[in-house]
Amino acid sequence: MTRTVYVNGEYLPEGEAKVSIFDRGFLFADAVYEVTSVLDGKLIDFEGHAVRLDRSLKELDMASPCSKEELLEIHRKLVELNGIEEGLVYLQVSRGSDGDRDFVFPSEDTPPSLVLFTQNKPGLADSPAAAKGAKIISIEDIRWGRRDIKTVQLLYPSMGKMMAKKAGCDDAWLIEDGYVTEGTSNNAYYVKNGKIVTRPLSNDILHGITRAAVLRLAEEAQMEIEERLFTIDEAKAADEAFTTSASAFVMPVVEIDGVALGDGTPGPIAKRLREIYLEESRKKAV
Ligand code: PDD
Repeated sequence: MTRTVYVNGEYLPEGEAKVSIFDRGFLFADAVYEVTSVLDGKLIDFEGHAVRLDRSLKELDMASPCSKEELLEIHRKLVELNGIEEGLVYLQVSRGSDGDRDFVFPSEDTPPSLVLFTQNKPGLADSPAAAKGAKIISIEDIRWGRRDIKTVQLLYPSMGKMMAKKAGCDDAWLIEDGYVTEGTSNNAYYVKNGKIVTRPLSNDILHGITRAAVLRLAEEAQMEIEERLFTIDEAKAADEAFTTSASAFVMPVVEIDGVALGDGTPGPIAKRLREIYLEESRKKAV
């Protein structure tokens, strides 16, 4: 089945969808994005993603391409047209194009580009990768200083993922000034003596939508949470660790820089949080 995608008001077969070569997303990474997961054909945490998108746009003085209601309708229509039961919806808004390359932003009446497409991922919830747990390497965080804005500047995270693959691992955690910031495309946590430790929100990390939901659920389940800076050595000495993201929910981490955590299998807190998160998310999905 050919995938149907959305580009600036039109639903098109993916091969017919086009964006200008002068689009600022293409030339300057002048674009923001969101990834929303789909379970049972419904959207997970849509509201959180829509609110964060709005914030990213405002932080960059970028015009909003449409209302939240219209966005929801586009998401739902793409899920339906592509028959997605489990998967992802990718959304990108760029500052558009005024037909040339210029560092100066184009005039405010330049329409933003809005692109959405689905990714079919059967077995996303019941994932073998989550059952096995992820192996992590640590690398220096050399990204820009506004990681709270979800921009498409993903070259370094992508390189980090490749460094991990080369080392026979699954992902990388990023270190700045001696402290873990986050994963290449997820928020990072460790657990020691039952306490969950994660970096507090700031401009240094993305304010994960899954992070917010998982921490709320952990609190409701009477789990102890500490939001503070932590080092990779603390994480290596932990009982267990995990990451959160819309694309992998709660992913147990079983090894950091070659050091096995606990008995080297997914820990009980990560497994429990994954279960609770999936259960609650399915109930609230739209
Ligand atoms: N990544 N930190 C970074 C750097 C991320 O790129 C992401 C998400 C997260 C988790 O945020 P959320 O829980 O809202 O997905 C944290 C998405 C999934 C991606 O780039 O594909």
